[in-house]
Amino acid sequence: MDERLAVVSGGGTGIGAAVARALVADGCSVLVIGRRADVLAAAAERIGAECGRPEAVRAVTADLTDPDQVGRVVEAVGGRPVDVLVNNAGGYLGGKTDTLAGTAAHWRANLDANVLTAVLLTEALRPALRRPGGRVILVSSIAAQRGGAGAYSAAKAALHGWAYDLAAQLGPEQITVNVVSPGYVTETEFFGDRMTPEGHARRVAATLVGRPGTPDDIAESVRYLVSPAAGYVTGQVLGVNGGSVLGR
Ligand SMILES: NC(=O)c1ccc[n+]([C@@H]2O[C@H](COP(=O)([O-])OP(=O)(O)OC[C@H]3O[C@@H](n4cnc5c(N)ncnc54)[C@H](OP(=O)(O)O)[C@@H]3O)[C@@H](O)[C@H]2O)c1
Repeated sequence: MDERLAVVSGGGTGIGAAVARALVADGCSVLVIGRRADVLAAAAERIGAECGRPEAVRAVTADLTDPDQVGRVVEAVGGRPVDVLVNNAGGYLGGKTDTLAGTAAHWRANLDANVLTAVLLTEALRPALRRPGGRVILVSSIAAQRGGAGAYSAAKAALHGWAYDLAAQLGPEQITVNVVSPGYVTETEFFGDRMTPEGHARRVAATLVGRPGTPDDIAESVRYLVSPAAGYVTGQVLGVNGGSVLGR
């Protein structure tokens, strides 16, 4: 059988890089996507070397909020079936101001970064998804389930409703669609310089296991959901949050 092909958006850093590494370790060839060519190239080299498969990771530089740039990913796929699509790119965009124009810009930025990136990439690759057996993952956030981050919470929550529709549309072709919803995860660029010792301690205290999550914690849940073993799991939201939010 051919190597499975996986596409991981935001695969140059944090959770996406951990997902890419897990999939390479499992024998996939992986396309990692992001806006910064240098970051992607370094990640591709590191992951390939760590897994002893230097040729297995390819980088595609694209801003996934731009429909024209999404075409670069389709080109890189080159007509091969896509076994796994992990829509992980996103993040909290700040910059809210008291003006209505500022509010509009802030909401648009968060919707673009977290919803449009996933919608455009998935729609572009929808015809290429392997039938039967394709796997689509949307990376949401605990903020979608418990609030706390305004436009970012709302943007991530939008992914859930869309995932249910996608799962219904693709289910008859034996393609599964699931949402992975991380809690507090360190060792990524997500918080930039926003995190304080108090904020860190508060988030850790909110878990039942008394620790922050790691990118590998999230990658392992993705690894399961994209495996053949998970063929009967679709349209679900899997919280990976150390028990910070229970049962939803
Ligand atoms: N860390 C947490 O505590 C946490 C919790 C819940 C959910 N999440 C979610 O998990 C996902 C991964 O986050 P992370 O923690 O690993 O943070 P991260 O290191 O900042 O990863 C985000 C990745 O997305 C890429 N990206 C962002 N906008 C993009 C765009 N328009 N086009 C292409 N790539 C884009 C970034 O690369 P470039 O900047 O080079 O484009 C970066 O590699 C995000 O969706 C985030 O919202 C994180």
